[in-house]
Amino acid sequence: MKGRILSGMRPTGRLHLGHYFGVLKNWLQLTGDYECFFEIADLHALTENAESKETDISSRELLIDFLASGIDPFRAVVFQQSAVPQHAQLHLLLSMITPVGWLERCPTYKDQINQLDLGPNVTYGLLGYPVLMTTDIILYKADTVPIGKDQLPHLELSREIVRRFNYLFQCSIFPEPAEKLTEVPLLLGLDGRKMSKSYNNYILLCEEETALWEKVRNMVTDPARVKKTDPGHPEVCSVFSYHRLFSPQELPQIEQSCRSAGIGCVQCKKNLFERINAFISPIREKGALLAGDPAQLDRIISDGNAKALSVAESTYSQAVKAMKIGFRA
Ligand code: TRP
Ligand code: SF4
Repeated sequence: MKGRILSGMRPTGRLHLGHYFGVLKNWLQLTGDYECFFEIADLHALTENAESKETDISSRELLIDFLASGIDPFRAVVFQQSAVPQHAQLHLLLSMITPVGWLERCPTYKDQINQLDLGPNVTYGLLGYPVLMTTDIILYKADTVPIGKDQLPHLELSREIVRRFNYLFQCSIFPEPAEKLTEVPLLLGLDGRKMSKSYNNYILLCEEETALWEKVRNMVTDPARVKKTDPGHPEVCSVFSYHRLFSPQELPQIEQSCRSAGIGCVQCKKNLFERINAFISPIREKGALLAGDPAQLDRIISDGNAKALSVAESTYSQAVKAMKIGFRA
């Protein structure tokens, strides 16, 4: 084993292909090489609009999407943040040593307070987002954290908090976590922008066939190709960029028949639909089976939570000792 990994996702809705190629595929590849902890970060999901969420339902859906995508609970610990109380406890302890200035300077926080209506939406919890994330990582003494670039400022704060803890309490309980950056996303949204819920340009991992065809049918192609007899320019076409990922072997043929106007865009989209559908179908089917077996999901998450808990308990008690909390004679 190369080390220990912790990574997490907030339960904020069904996962799409962007999540798969940006995060999950990476997790799947790392599973054999590292000891992995994959977390449903439901407390993090509460840092904005805590009252309007049904995080309990979303957590179950996220577990379904993880498992349906191939995350194997026998090879990785899959658990829910709120089920391990040491997250909340260590978060409190870390909050005692984390200067507010560090958190206020965090670029993700600054972006958020600019976007949200100032006032009651900017909570103590939102400011402490990186402290909670630090807790996630160090409770399991993870040395490696697979994340996207957007999360880098949080990881830098994690390292600073770890250094401060180890220095203030003269210990080396927590390793400084290193990032494992995921590459630039291979897959963009249907419109060529980043795939995201808010742009409505996504394909869900559990997308039904009819909805999938509608989405593919509506994709924008080469705008210069008005008639079927016009030669196309695959390099500017979103459909072609999807073929790169889903039809790698046929790519030269597709490119050639597009440039020579040998294939129409509707046919080209039908071919793409078939490919994506073949990729999604097993995930969709596995997801449906899991959704129909709530007892199995309950079993899987309680097993994962129990494994996470035993590691978290041991680390937390070390932190308590180092901070000399308790009732000593
Ligand atoms: N903040 C991460 C995100 O939004 C999710 C997350 C929570 C996480 N805890 C983590 C990622 C710990 C890595 C490690 O993507
Ligand atoms: Fe795009 Fe395919 Fe049409 Fe070419 S034939 S423009 S690659 S959809």
